[in-house]
Amino acid sequence: MRTQVAIIGSGPSGLLLGQLLTEAGIDNVIIDRVGKDYILGRVRAGVLEEGTVALMDQAKAGARMHAEGLPHDGISLAFDGRDHRIDLFGLTGGKRVLVYGQTELTRDLMEHREMRGGQTIYDAANVQPHAFEGATPYVTYEKDGVSQRIDCDFVAGCDGFHGPSRKAVPEKAIRTFEKVYPFGWLGILAEVAPVSHELIYANHPRGFALCSMRSEHRSRYYLQCPVDEKIEDWSDDRFWDELRRRLPVQHAEALITAPSFEKSIAPLRSFVAEPMRFGRMFLVGDAAHIVPPTGAKGLNLAASDVHYLFSGLAEYYQDGSNAGIDAYSQRALARVWKAVRFSWWMTTMLHRFPDTGDFDQKIQEAELDYLTHSRAASTALAENYVGLPY
Ligand code: FAD
Ligand code: DHB
Repeated sequence: MRTQVAIIGSGPSGLLLGQLLTEAGIDNVIIDRVGKDYILGRVRAGVLEEGTVALMDQAKAGARMHAEGLPHDGISLAFDGRDHRIDLFGLTGGKRVLVYGQTELTRDLMEHREMRGGQTIYDAANVQPHAFEGATPYVTYEKDGVSQRIDCDFVAGCDGFHGPSRKAVPEKAIRTFEKVYPFGWLGILAEVAPVSHELIYANHPRGFALCSMRSEHRSRYYLQCPVDEKIEDWSDDRFWDELRRRLPVQHAEALITAPSFEKSIAPLRSFVAEPMRFGRMFLVGDAAHIVPPTGAKGLNLAASDVHYLFSGLAEYYQDGSNAGIDAYSQRALARVWKAVRFSWWMTTMLHRFPDTGDFDQKIQEAELDYLTHSRAASTALAENYVGLPY
């Protein structure tokens, strides 16, 4: 088989890139290790920046997102038993975020791909990019026990943190930066109205908590927990009790509970691989970088990578220019590092660290106090939260 762009990975970055390429008349094939239902069963991010929303529109897949997504103009930082609202809309001159689950965004992109006749190979084993340092790269995989090969002009490695694309790069050609945090997030989904109509990021002596949502009837809640915590040790009752303890009293009293229908623990890490281009292969999204979820940046960064790569590939095919693909790594990384910094900062400011002493504790409290009383500091948070410009 031959295509112009072989895309490894059918997560948000692979699907969004595929859809933009298809709309621009550039042939592409997506190959994933797992099936459609498995991909749609993954519960992950929930907050979209305006840039991500605009890309969904550009991909012609934004209709349901606009109909069902919840625009949010502010967030709350809860500490000291009180809410401190950050007015995202007012502080950024009219920008907001859209609460719309990654699962829904993925479903919309998959449906549009099917409608446009785009080709996706699911349940492919041993997917591997080859010869990307030369002019004729290709991808091999096995499907139903038969070896297959796709020849292409370019490979897009959209295969997440554990995928084969980054691993195929010789060690001496890549540099990685990593920080692992000494805690995880225990997350649940429940069919209940959210405790507040805006997201609450809570700093509490017992640990961080986040109240988010997927709709007006479905809530997504998270608790900071030890990284080696066993999910079986967290009954729903234990989760709800602990969440109540970490929230200001008016929210604790208003919290509606119900049996959870999803419960999982995610580790927290910051990771960046440089560069993001190796000859004719590009790393995109989680394949190149991971951020802790505290700033809701993971999915949005995947989208901005896609924007830079798509514009580079469109320039290549439409104008015969290499300028965009040559600039991809540098342009993407400049934005990535700012989001890595923001996510690290939000994580550091809002969580309890096992080695936090009295001094660090006082610094954290002073930072939150400053942040919520200084317009300049609140604006810095707000402009990062809604997303820095592309
Ligand atoms: P992925 O979504 O990881 O997609 C990669 C795709 O590649 C997958 O479909 C995978 O099956 C495929 N793949 C992997 N290996 C192979 C292979 N060998 N061959 C072929 N295909 C392969 N972000 C937030 O902003 N907020 C959150 O709350 C949040 N929670 C998260 C919770 C978890 C558990 C995880 C893992 C991530 C979370 N993120 C969150 C991050 C966000 O979901 C990611 O940044 C986003 O999914 C990145 O999209 P992607 O397409 O680059 O990678
Ligand atoms: C969600 C996740 C986040 O990491 C975040 O900062 C905000 C919302 C969510 O899953 O809804």
